[in-house]
Amino acid sequence: MGEKSIRIRVPGTSANCGPGFDTLGVACTIYNELELTLLHEPRLAIEIKGDGASKIPQDERNIVWRSVRYLLEKAGAQGEYPGAVIRMENRVPLSRGLGSSATAIVSGLKAANVLLDNRFTRRELLQFATEIEGHPDNVAPALFGGFTVSILQHGRTETISFVPKLRMKFVVAIPDFYLSTKVARQALPEQVSLQDAVFNVGRASMLVAALLKGNDKVLRDAFDDALHQPYRMSLVPGMKEVFQAAKKAGAVGAALSGAGPCLIAFTLERDRCTQEVGEAMTKAFQAHDIQAKAITLGLDLKGAHVLNHAESLKK
Ligand code: HSE
Repeated sequence: MGEKSIRIRVPGTSANCGPGFDTLGVACTIYNELELTLLHEPRLAIEIKGDGASKIPQDERNIVWRSVRYLLEKAGAQGEYPGAVIRMENRVPLSRGLGSSATAIVSGLKAANVLLDNRFTRRELLQFATEIEGHPDNVAPALFGGFTVSILQHGRTETISFVPKLRMKFVVAIPDFYLSTKVARQALPEQVSLQDAVFNVGRASMLVAALLKGNDKVLRDAFDDALHQPYRMSLVPGMKEVFQAAKKAGAVGAALSGAGPCLIAFTLERDRCTQEVGEAMTKAFQAHDIQAKAITLGLDLKGAHVLNHAESLKK
């Protein structure tokens, strides 16, 4: 049998969306691409272009390769394909809270699965991706697109993906420093009060209901969080002021994107305030001696998908 290649595009994601810690996520219109060729010989070649390229391992430790291996082992095909050529083109900023590791995991799983004639369903890929990543809130939107609600039930991941009634734009302020998810999780307490738990259950539920119903008035009160952001404030200088600046400039809400350090502002498309919000956020960061750049993203509806040649970033 000859070698087989495929090209996959996977959206970056923002997890938590404020109150939905480890539960809510959203797929954004910023993408990483992977071209995977499975080899019948034990040779691994990895080429990486784009964001953070020099920081990503190009050997057996590479997360895309580990995810490809994971799927091959699940399919019992690791003997048939002991090697691969991996070409990555990354646009999603590395280690900034926009799901770069989830895009890598999902792209490796999806690409290998397509090359094995879709041996596994998308739900099974979600399960594998969660097992690799440890939590589902980034891998779910990376796979399915849209906003996602995910839970773990006896080790199994359940996800519902939905498209809100309100058309939204996301303004992401990317500060010029890295923050590892591990460090950001170490900042969290092991226990929280019932009061804080209720605060978040209410807001996370209200956020989903408001998005589904298109209720932008209630939406404005639904992005606050008591479970993780307060404990992470000191890891992202100016976080509170950036949130306030974004809302003052017209955003309906603002949150730490995933485990940070990016901050994401949620705006209504009809308000056309993304430029003002981006400027306000970077200015508020600057007041804390943090350089940041702002990008505006839309909602990705497709999730991970096979790319035909004409769509490629290379064009
Ligand atoms: N939900 C995770 C966290 C981020 O806030 O630690 C997802 O990678």
